[in-house]
Amino acid sequence: MQLQLFDTHLESSNWLADQIVDAIIQKPNLTLCLASGDSPKLTYQIMVQRLIFKEIDYSKFHMLGLDEWVGISPDDTGSCAYFFHKYLIEPLALNKDQFHLFDGLSHDVDLECNKMDAIIKEKGIDLMVVGIGMNGHIGFNEPGTAFDTFCHIVQLDSITTSVGQKYFESSRILDKGITIGLGNLLDSKKVILIAHGEKKAKIISQTLGNEIGRHLPATIMKQHENACIIIDRLAANKW
Ligand code: F6R
Repeated sequence: MQLQLFDTHLESSNWLADQIVDAIIQKPNLTLCLASGDSPKLTYQIMVQRLIFKEIDYSKFHMLGLDEWVGISPDDTGSCAYFFHKYLIEPLALNKDQFHLFDGLSHDVDLECNKMDAIIKEKGIDLMVVGIGMNGHIGFNEPGTAFDTFCHIVQLDSITTSVGQKYFESSRILDKGITIGLGNLLDSKKVILIAHGEKKAKIISQTLGNEIGRHLPATIMKQHENACIIIDRLAANKW
């Protein structure tokens, strides 16, 4: 696993946006699996600008949404689906067949998992971009999750349900999540984890310092053969 330090979040976001844009240029029909949330938001904004202003053909890549809150509508501004529409799908005017998101309101969440797993099985994941939760989760793979799980429904832990309130305009009952699994992550060709800010310093230091294990899902990055963690100076200051 590589570790890259940047002075600022803007610098790491610029670097990551370049990585994604280059990956699209190299393989126009690649499959990207992307996290939502504060960590990659700036990256996506920069990436969208570059794709448009450099007139790159981005009509062939496929995007998979990493996770979703179960029971939350895609119209809710705190949902992952809302995020993907706002920062990627609408600015890039992606075709309906260019992206696949979990439906948090589905009556058959197991079917949602099966559909996503089938797409991953067919296409593979070329590049995964993830964040890290305050408890070390990746996607909604909470501490204790086995490294060989594929898409699944998760009982969210109390850190995730309380930190998750930050995405919503008013408080929501968050209980379960639906997520692409750690087995899918290990099978993907490349994974980049981005983290920034002082609040992530402790969990980054624990991730880098701990042995690989299911107690801290983000340690899986050290098991992946083509993984990179990128952090700014603030997120590095307890390491
Ligand atoms: C969101 C996701 C989560 C977040 C993590 C960090 O799609 O997969 O694992 O990446 O909770 O969230 P932020 O980036 O908001 O600090």
